[in-house]
Amino acid sequence: MTASVPELADQTAFITGGANGIGFAAAQHLTTLGVTVAVVDVQADAAERAAAALGEHAFAVPADVTDLASVEAAVATITARSRGVDILINCAGITGRTGIKSHEVEPADFERVWRINTLGSFHTARAVLPGMLARGYGRILHVASIAGKDGNAGMLAYSASKAAVIGMAKVQGKEYAGTGVTINALAPAVVRTQMVAAMPPEQVKYMTDKIPMARCGELDEIAALMGFIVSPASSFTTGFTWDFSGGRAVY
Ligand SMILES: NC(=O)c1ccc[n+]([C@@H]2O[C@H](COP(=O)([O-])OP(=O)(O)OC[C@H]3O[C@@H](n4cnc5c(N)ncnc54)[C@H](O)[C@@H]3O)[C@@H](O)[C@H]2O)c1
Repeated sequence: MTASVPELADQTAFITGGANGIGFAAAQHLTTLGVTVAVVDVQADAAERAAAALGEHAFAVPADVTDLASVEAAVATITARSRGVDILINCAGITGRTGIKSHEVEPADFERVWRINTLGSFHTARAVLPGMLARGYGRILHVASIAGKDGNAGMLAYSASKAAVIGMAKVQGKEYAGTGVTINALAPAVVRTQMVAAMPPEQVKYMTDKIPMARCGELDEIAALMGFIVSPASSFTTGFTWDFSGGRAVY
């Protein structure tokens, strides 16, 4: 089905975890392109501050991605003030406790990581897909991780949860191919955000030592790539996991 592609100025993006880090960088980039951005974050104050910093093309929608009702309410709020969600970027995520072996992982921590990283990405996609399908256009980007492709020792819950996100993008890409909706994942290596700052230094060294470019990715670099993936121009790639790893992943 080929529906008309909306102008960027008429598009609205739903960015989870948009109050900080990679989500905020993506929000900044999209607003400079004229896209209206809903900053969807569980930290209501931070979401408000982020939206204020982004300017008139952004607004805050506090929501918890682990709660389907909260996600559906966020979609309803956004749909009430726009033509609906054209772009979904799932950035909400946590690492859980890292720097530990699998037998040391607490089941409650494992579950918490999965609820935010995996269940959360399922909830948001589930909530926006009907509108995208009805309009015949949409872009969904699940931010996974190189940990989901390679498996980072010391990060069982996180690596497994991101592998599941990559699997979800593969399924969804196939299921909705030909509808005008593309669904992809992105696998970053290390970008220095508050998430990385909170990890044990040895765990961060383990990850950065694996990057052939011998540096971390920058926020403006990842935002530019994300902007392309969710643009109308990126129309023949779906179910794919894009790389952002400075050469760590060559597959
Ligand atoms: N920074 C990296 O090196 C890196 C590498 C690979 C993948 N990633 C992934 O990129 C995404 C963004 O990471 P970041 O480094 O910007 O992290 P970050 O900690 O800076 O931002 C994450 C945001 O998610 C929000 N959030 C957490 N739980 C939520 C929930 N239940 N509902 C709604 N929002 C919630 C937080 O409030 C925060 O604003 C994550 O999914 C992360 O796993 C990051």
